[in-house]
Amino acid sequence: MPGSASRRRSSPAVVRTAVPADVTTALQLWADAGAHSTSTDDVGSLRRLLERDPGALLIAEIDGDVVGTLIAAWDGWRGNMYRLAVLPDFRRRGIATALLAEAERRLRSLGCQRVTALVADADPHAVDFWSNVDYERYPMKRYVHTLDDPHTRDETR
Ligand SMILES: CC(C)(COP(=O)(O)OP(=O)(O)OC[C@H]1O[C@@H](n2cnc3c(N)ncnc32)[C@H](O)[C@@H]1OP(=O)(O)O)[C@@H](O)C(=O)NCCC(=O)NCCS
Repeated sequence: MPGSASRRRSSPAVVRTAVPADVTTALQLWADAGAHSTSTDDVGSLRRLLERDPGALLIAEIDGDVVGTLIAAWDGWRGNMYRLAVLPDFRRRGIATALLAEAERRLRSLGCQRVTALVADADPHAVDFWSNVDYERYPMKRYVHTLDDPHTRDETR
């Protein structure tokens, strides 16, 4: 539609909580944003996240189009942030900052005091972003193991 792109660029982003219908859009956005894919980037895993922790997936929208995401998960003890991603055409206009502000508001309201953001060294924009907000780089190694998926395991084995 003529002029829609420029209107979109000048409209402010609105941050809201995702619903299950947003899951496929979020997965596509992560691919389009160049976020590192992991074994939990699938519809079933994201739906389980929303069942267990409704409100954990935040969506930034401009004129109804999804342009950014952030997972702010609360496990009852600490908050963990994953999948901060903004579409390339919408970067450097404060959308990640707005997502982070809403994520912190949500976690604080749940009683969370300590928050970790998982950031890959291989994501240079992410390192630039997190270096410019009030998060401290913490000297710690991360050990990761992928468990068998109980939802797809062959129960006859
Ligand atoms: C990292 C990312 C989410 C930032 O989104 P964004 O909406 O552009 O970020 P903001 O506009 O809120 O940036 C806030 C500040 O962070 C810093 N920053 C963000 N991106 C930067 C970049 N590419 N280079 C240098 N500084 C950057 C700047 O200080 C910026 O403020 P400024 O624009 O006034 O200078 C986005 O680049 C992205 O999706 N990257 C690919 C996926 C990814 O790496 N995700 C992170 C996983 S944790």
